Amino acid sequence: MKLLIVGGGGREHALAWKLRQSSQVEAIFCAPGNAGTAELGENIPLLPNDSRGLVRFAKENQIGLTVVGPDDPLAAGLVDEFQKKSLRIFGPAKAAARLEGSKVFAKQLMRCAGVPTPMAGVFDDSRKACRFAGKLHYPVVIKADGLAAGKGVVIAPDAASAVEAISDMIDRRRFGEAGARVLIEEFLEGWECSLHVLVAGEKYQLLGTACDHKRLQDGNRGPNTGGMGAYSPALACDADLEKQFHEKIMRPLLHGLREEEIHFSGLLFPGLMISNGIARVLEFNCRFGDPETQVILPRLKGDLLPLLEATIDGRMDELKIELDERLAVTVVMASAGYPGQIEVGKKISGLDACAQMKNVHIFHAGTRRENGDVFSSGGRVLAVTALGNTIATARDLAYEAVGKIDFEGCHYRRDIALAAVAANVEATDAASRPQR
Ligand code: AMP
Ligand code: GLY
Repeated sequence: MKLLIVGGGGREHALAWKLRQSSQVEAIFCAPGNAGTAELGENIPLLPNDSRGLVRFAKENQIGLTVVGPDDPLAAGLVDEFQKKSLRIFGPAKAAARLEGSKVFAKQLMRCAGVPTPMAGVFDDSRKACRFAGKLHYPVVIKADGLAAGKGVVIAPDAASAVEAISDMIDRRRFGEAGARVLIEEFLEGWECSLHVLVAGEKYQLLGTACDHKRLQDGNRGPNTGGMGAYSPALACDADLEKQFHEKIMRPLLHGLREEEIHFSGLLFPGLMISNGIARVLEFNCRFGDPETQVILPRLKGDLLPLLEATIDGRMDELKIELDERLAVTVVMASAGYPGQIEVGKKISGLDACAQMKNVHIFHAGTRRENGDVFSSGGRVLAVTALGNTIATARDLAYEAVGKIDFEGCHYRRDIALAAVAANVEATDAASRPQR
């Protein structure tokens, strides 16, 4: 079978890498791909929002399955366009992708379905929004309703920054119409956990869990980014959480979708905050996470393709999902200026040295190849993943690989998975302490 992967980031490289291992896959095309996906197949110069071009390409090249990476083509209805032409595609249709495309819609659905989620108000008037924010405890969370490339969430530590963020979104339209409406939400402390769930209507199976690091700087400081690193499985995910996941989140949510006559097919990725043992949903994504995919797929045993196929066909009962016992850590290496104005076109060194390392996978994001050399071409440039028997060994190995790679202006967080290592040490110490 020939596959088409839509997108060109680290997530798409990880998807292409995993799917290339399937015995049923004869060729992989990536639109537009990057220097990493070019090693596994053919990059084609089509952008993810070019639905006409993608449909035409899939028809003309007898593509057996298209897998969509990013959120915007899903929200714009790419899946619907493929289905109209009877082309097979993995991902939710436009109506279901609203769960990610509108945070207000997701919040309303969660409220009706009784899914635990932080308290929030919805506003399109900046003065009313500021007044509401003033009644909450700081920090408060300000969220643009629509898609904003992962940057539409601001955690405002005080009134002045809340007013600034609200005016920026509503009055100055920093994110265009995506910020015309905002949510003002209570801030929750706790452990974050990203779930990756294969969903077909009311049936689902958990693919894996991960923990992302959204903020730019060490110690969770600085602006939110698309994600600066991740580890899998998420430490916070124990048996009790799994019970909450089924009973409090997935079942009521999928029931709520059915009440709205919305059929979800594809990967649902709820972002949770676990505070004092209670899981609440911060947001829904309707696609694989980036960089979560770069830690979940290296742990997935066996073939990914049949899992995607069974999800499309609603054959969830047949799914056998087995994960490697080992843990995975990925560290994102970014261009100077990211997540703001970035500098690109920098030559990357050290990739060959890393390719020799066992249990290390280098996933390309914003990269392109020219005359045999690899250059940076985007904000997030590489995701460097390592597997280990403990979170500490996986982390050490990932940073050992990162240490071999360089490009001008490159920066990365030094504390990816560090809190998990510390929590693990604490848990192990507590377990080995004599009981009194
Ligand atoms: P979202 O896109 O809604 O997941 O938000 C991006 C990031 O902002 C999350 O991964 C959290 O780190 C943070 N965040 C969002 N909502 C909240 C909240 N209510 N309380 C604390 N942190 C939040
Ligand atoms: N890493 C978070 C996301 O993919 O939205």
